[in-house]
Amino acid sequence: MNDSAVAGMFGRIVRFYDVLNRVLSLGFDQRWRAVLAQSALQAVTHNKVVALDLAAGTLDVALALRRVRPDISADMRVLALDFCPPMLERGRRKLVGENAVLPVAADAKKLPLPDASVHCVTMAFGIRNITPRAIAFDEMLRVLKKGGRACILEFGSGRERIWGGVYNVYLNVVLPRIGRFFSGDSAAYDYLVETIRAFPTATTLEDELRAAGFARVWHIRLTSGIVCLHVGEK
Ligand SMILES: C[S@@+](CC[C@H](N)C(=O)[O-])C[C@H]1O[C@@H](n2cnc3c(N)ncnc32)[C@H](O)[C@@H]1O
Repeated sequence: MNDSAVAGMFGRIVRFYDVLNRVLSLGFDQRWRAVLAQSALQAVTHNKVVALDLAAGTLDVALALRRVRPDISADMRVLALDFCPPMLERGRRKLVGENAVLPVAADAKKLPLPDASVHCVTMAFGIRNITPRAIAFDEMLRVLKKGGRACILEFGSGRERIWGGVYNVYLNVVLPRIGRFFSGDSAAYDYLVETIRAFPTATTLEDELRAAGFARVWHIRLTSGIVCLHVGEK
């Protein structure tokens, strides 16, 4: 799928996106985003922190970033970038009383930001949709300040058997049916499963982050590897 088809697809399912995330992840998704946000901000000690969330969607990661470090949140700004404006518009509804999150329509492969301008970069469930990944990794590295982390949350490879295969049946059979039933968009949830199946292993992704120039690279499996947190430090 090309970029405009991907943006169009998210624009079509936006009304159901959040509720289906909660249902299809059996309530795990917000916990995964909190782990992502914690990891991104763990090494940050500064005041006046600028965090960048890419493929920000309906702003759940941006809001998680605002919540996880109360000690620095008063001086933190979150730039939330996505190339699908309807997703950002939906997310804006969650920003009542929250002035430190700035939604911006932009492509993760062409960031409208100067070099070394942000303290951390996050991306949840976005990298699967981006080709070639290397361009997005180059951009993350370019805009990060030295010592900053790029933290990428993504499903593990759907080819790995998890929970004795129960998860794989859920992924291949149950999840697309529920997604199709509620959203009425069979293509979107078939696409979700296809991109999870096609996604590389965690070690391949580590190699790609190293090749992009990240100095320290590691990953952490969450919920038996259903989801993986990839970290690259500049
Ligand atoms: C599965 S959603 C994830 C949204 C959000 N991060 C979350 O945790 O719910 C993927 C998002 O990535 C966005 N996206 C995909 N490719 C992109 C790109 N090249 N640049 C910016 N956003 C992109 C889509 O518009 C969509 O909102």
